[in-house]
Amino acid sequence: MSEVHQIAHPLIASKLTRMRNENTPTGEFRSLLHQITTLMAFGATRDLPTEQITVKTPVACAEFPTLACGRVTLAPILRAGVGMVEGMLAVLPDASVGYIGMYRDEESLQPVEYLCKLPADISADTVIVLDPMLATGGSAIDAVSTLKARGATDIRMMNLVAAPEGIAAFQKAHPDVDIYVAAVDEGLNERAYIVPGLGDAGDRIFGTVG
Ligand code: PRP
Ligand code: URA
Repeated sequence: MSEVHQIAHPLIASKLTRMRNENTPTGEFRSLLHQITTLMAFGATRDLPTEQITVKTPVACAEFPTLACGRVTLAPILRAGVGMVEGMLAVLPDASVGYIGMYRDEESLQPVEYLCKLPADISADTVIVLDPMLATGGSAIDAVSTLKARGATDIRMMNLVAAPEGIAAFQKAHPDVDIYVAAVDEGLNERAYIVPGLGDAGDRIFGTVG
């Protein structure tokens, strides 16, 4: 069974509290998402392998660690996952970015894929899927299935807020993919929104409410 890593940190917790407030305006919401994503990146990449390389400093030659995981590919789920890309690139500037377009049908609540633009060969990549919300888990499950169908084997899921129902469904579908999350909320309401959550993440990031 995959693990759920809740990344606990006072900075993440207090910034997320600010994002949850319905009065927090779009610009601040976006900026907070960017900041939290960067902070969460430390937790989500903690186990990346390193190797020793020789570096000549102005004083001496010595061995130092450097990342040895090959290419990292960020896979934001459109739209809301796009709000996490810059925050990840702040600490992984050389990462590739591949987009998976998906929305939840308002009636059926089932995910509908409308775009997939990934690097040609992701079989050796460390792929980090980005989406602020894991509600029923449907979108995340389908996105990871798409990545696996294209050869990805090293995948991790990164969310801001998750519902226990979504975590359970995701773990059942993808027991080999760990989840990194800032908060696990109470559950889902009748419209499959996370409670208390933060509302519709895409609308709040892109200012499309109302
Ligand atoms: C939101 C969110 C996730 C999905 C989560 O996207 O960003 O992708 O819902 O719900 P689920 O776990 O029940 O699938 P949405 O469908 O609202 O699309 P948008 O980002 O384009 O607004
Ligand atoms: N998608 C969102 O953006 N928010 C939720 O609470 C559930 C799904």
